[in-house]
Amino acid sequence: MTLAASKDRRILQVSDLHLSATRAYYQDNWEMVLEWIEAKQPDFVVVSGDVALSDPDLWEDLAFARRQLERITVPWRAIPGNHDIGDNVVSGSMSKRVNADRRQRWLDIFGLDYWREDQGSWTLIGVNTQILNSQGLAAEGEQAQWLVKTLQDVPDDRPIGLFVHKPLFMDHPSETVVQASCLELEAREALIAPFAGKSLRLVACGHKHQYRSFGLDGVIHLWAPSTGAVNHPPDVKMWGLREVGFLDIRLGDQGIRQRLVGSDFLFRHESYVRILEHGSILKSPAQAAP
Ligand SMILES: [Fe+2]
Ligand SMILES: [Fe+2]
Repeated sequence: MTLAASKDRRILQVSDLHLSATRAYYQDNWEMVLEWIEAKQPDFVVVSGDVALSDPDLWEDLAFARRQLERITVPWRAIPGNHDIGDNVVSGSMSKRVNADRRQRWLDIFGLDYWREDQGSWTLIGVNTQILNSQGLAAEGEQAQWLVKTLQDVPDDRPIGLFVHKPLFMDHPSETVVQASCLELEAREALIAPFAGKSLRLVACGHKHQYRSFGLDGVIHLWAPSTGAVNHPPDVKMWGLREVGFLDIRLGDQGIRQRLVGSDFLFRHESYVRILEHGSILKSPAQAAP
């Protein structure tokens, strides 16, 4: 299979930036990512959540992250992660869960949390996975209605790439037990149901701070690593590659090409070392952004 190069779109997926104005532990990597974008000029950048360091209520970090995204010199869109608007109501592990106020803060600072972007022969859709199975948030229903309506306008044979923060599943789309903070079954099924009869070809997530790529039933699943740091000590079992970096994705008429970029030149910062030393990221010493 040969991709028609002239029709390809080059999409960059950056994820889990974990930026902070006062604890800028990963700012060095972000500067290198920006340099790479400036040099390569991809067609579009998707930022798949966790732009803020840790606390979704730290307005300063969210505002700082927004200013950092504005430094991207090509078109971009972002979706929120658990560290930006709080964790999922039912299955989240963080004490701070998503609510209307936290989601509104995202809208105020970053704009829309779900979107459609057409690139070449592809349609890209970004969705806020943090509000799925929210047990009553109005935004969940609004997003679901928007998704149904949006997909009605996408021709059945037009390839679609779906961008989410959390992985849909670990081992199988039908798994009922939430593993390693993937989406729970109810959230997953509600998200995917509107894609029935459509040409969903790519599901790309962040959140795990690992790189993984596999195909299942005609869909390529990608886990973008963090641009900032890996999580957990090296002896913890990982499903993907314990590396930092970002994804260079080519979408063409014939298919998908992708590669991990940056694991050979970004610093593989280790969040667990800092947590061992200081108890938590937010108790770690201040480090100003340059
Ligand atoms: Fe993250
Ligand atoms: Fe996350």
